[in-house]
Amino acid sequence: MNMNEPPHGIAAYAGRRSRLLQSMGAGVAVVPTAPERTRNRDSYYPYRFDSYFYYLTGFAEPEAVLVLVAGDTPRSILFCREKHEERETWDGFRYGPQAARERFGLDEARPIGELDEALASLLGDQPTLFYAPGAESEWDARVMRWLNAVRAQTRTGISAPAQIHDIRVLLDEMRLVKDAAEIDTMRRAATISARAHRRAMRFARPGRREFEIEAELLHEFRSRGAQFPAYWPIVASGASACVLHYRDNSATLDDGDLLLIDAGCELDGYAADITRTFPVNGRYSGAQRAAYELVLAAQAAAIVQVRPGNAWNAPHDAAVRVLAQGMLELKLLSGSLDEVLETESYRRFYMHRTGHWLGLDVHDAGEYKHGGNWRALAPGMTLTVEPGIYIRAAHDVPEDFHDIGIRIEDDVLVTDSGCEVLTRETPKSIADIEALMRERPAGK
Ligand code: GLY
Ligand code: MN
Ligand code: MN
Repeated sequence: MNMNEPPHGIAAYAGRRSRLLQSMGAGVAVVPTAPERTRNRDSYYPYRFDSYFYYLTGFAEPEAVLVLVAGDTPRSILFCREKHEERETWDGFRYGPQAARERFGLDEARPIGELDEALASLLGDQPTLFYAPGAESEWDARVMRWLNAVRAQTRTGISAPAQIHDIRVLLDEMRLVKDAAEIDTMRRAATISARAHRRAMRFARPGRREFEIEAELLHEFRSRGAQFPAYWPIVASGASACVLHYRDNSATLDDGDLLLIDAGCELDGYAADITRTFPVNGRYSGAQRAAYELVLAAQAAAIVQVRPGNAWNAPHDAAVRVLAQGMLELKLLSGSLDEVLETESYRRFYMHRTGHWLGLDVHDAGEYKHGGNWRALAPGMTLTVEPGIYIRAAHDVPEDFHDIGIRIEDDVLVTDSGCEVLTRETPKSIADIEALMRERPAGK
């Protein structure tokens, strides 16, 4: 898939825009894409579009804004860069409004330079402006200028929108339930990411550096067509696995240590997010095995709870229960299960939640509660299930468990009858991981 093309086909984006237009009822929506960002002087960060904008257009160029006009004759207008021979010589192809309108199926497309003038007119006599207040201060200021420009016309009988609605309230609900095209892309992102983890397992051995493993992951992502890592990979050996957002990726892998890898690619905008924890030398030690089996059992208990109608928190509650019981059995904690759950003493070793929505953003859009209650899972929602245990060395912790950090993370789609584990091609049982690692070629 060329990033210059709408990966889901014109009809998918048109359908999303039309649903948004319907839920707006009346008014005008403004959805800008992300700005380009300088890394240093003339060098830019790799460009990544805004997720909301891309969800509604599939258009990957910077300097673009989608405007939706709701009402009896709803229309979608794309503002984008004009063709420019010289700039295209330096920076590459750009569609220009005419080709963008045809290729991306918009009702209209206009040069981005006309945006301010067009909005001052489009917002006249409209009841409501939908946009994302506070997301970018430059856009806030620009929107206020448009509104003032409309207000300046009041003596000619034109009125300015009386209300501003946060468009994210509508879009987050839409993005939460994935359509068929999104699910297909997420399946492919999961498959590529699973391959990357298998590659890392085959490559790891004592003496290698964490960044060498990182390079293998990135190679697999990019060579399979994924445009980016969905977030920077965490490659954390030994005690570093207890650092939840470890970033160094520089240590040497030691014989006897575990290696925690949290890595997933972004394919056509959609993220995968997988964690596996395996022994650098290919064999789990006794304590590593016990802790690993515990996290695996917690994950299995959580995944069983991923089904339509269950509350968002059901998988977390199930994982916590299994982990807390296991921490007691491994003598990491004392007391009764009820006490451990009541006082949350398990949080010393399990301090994060068991998952998050997954989609265009790795921590994807969507509320977790509705009216104060955890929302119900429904078919088409995609989430991670990622329990872990992080045991820092301490005098009151059995020594065998010192500095063991384990997380097991999969991506799960809620289906009509339960769930589908999108990342199931990533080895997870001790037997499967050890078998794969036995296939490693000999030598450094
Ligand atoms: N990799 C980010 C997360 O697991 O939430
Ligand atoms: Mn992760
Ligand atoms: Mn995650």
